[in-house]
Amino acid sequence: MMPDQYAVIGNPIGHSKSPLIHSMFAKSTDQNIKYSAIEGPIDRVDGFELKVREFLNAGGKGMNVTAPFKLRAYALADQLSERAKLAGAINAMKFANGEILGENFDGIGLLKDVQSNLKFSLTNKRVLLMGAGGAARGALLPFIEANPAELIVVNRDVAKATKLVNEISSNVKLIACGYKDLTDQKFDIVFNATSASLTGELPPLNPEVFTHSGLAYELAYGKGLTPFLRLAQNAGVKRLADGVGMLAEQAAEAFQWWRGLRPSTSSVIQLLTVPLK
Ligand code: ATR
Repeated sequence: MMPDQYAVIGNPIGHSKSPLIHSMFAKSTDQNIKYSAIEGPIDRVDGFELKVREFLNAGGKGMNVTAPFKLRAYALADQLSERAKLAGAINAMKFANGEILGENFDGIGLLKDVQSNLKFSLTNKRVLLMGAGGAARGALLPFIEANPAELIVVNRDVAKATKLVNEISSNVKLIACGYKDLTDQKFDIVFNATSASLTGELPPLNPEVFTHSGLAYELAYGKGLTPFLRLAQNAGVKRLADGVGMLAEQAAEAFQWWRGLRPSTSSVIQLLTVPLK
């Protein structure tokens, strides 16, 4: 039997861990698939779209999408899940009857990591989400479903956070604000969903927001102790995490969506963990 074809598309794509992760999943679940990495062209306007169609037409079953194509994949999809619609971006596609189905598993992967791997419940907790870009958008609906006592979205550009919060109707207390509005507030969990860590920057966060028994979670993966995690550590936070578990869990969600069974993520997480130092 020919293996079913999957791929991740991005640019650059050389550093993507997805081929490794999905090969490990396929092996552990005995699935006959081939998963490759495709560099999406950025030198012509419809280069990405043509590559996706080419893969689909050649019999491909699905793709992961990474930077800078998540918004274009969203626009290209024929059908979108609710969380993908709110995120405004997708990171996984499934091809069925010539149609492209779009999903965003980043937020659900993050929630799975926090609850199942780190054993930290969001229910009735005070949660702070930093950032209002693509990464924060993806996390919002899954977080709300976990029923926190309060969910605060903080962003430098407050209007952007307000706009995001206003798109959602929920019973959870959901508030948008700026960093200066966080005085005298404490949170059980603080998520850094800004892109600050990618450039080694520290968002203007008052370290008093942390609680010792809380969790500080950096969505970026493989950057070690980022300025945000260092701030949390210096403030006495004992539990620090980066996005390695999120990376593995979003991949497991996509794998399950495609193949109908969920692989165990522990060996992937073990292999890809970069020490926080
Ligand atoms: P991503 O897809 O990674 O979320 P994005 O959509 O470009 O990327 O969003 C980047 C987010 O990181 C934004 O919320 C941005 O804040 P502003 O909207 O106020 O610009 C946030 N961000 C980037 N650098 C930051 C920094 N040094 N401090 C605080 N927030 C930062």
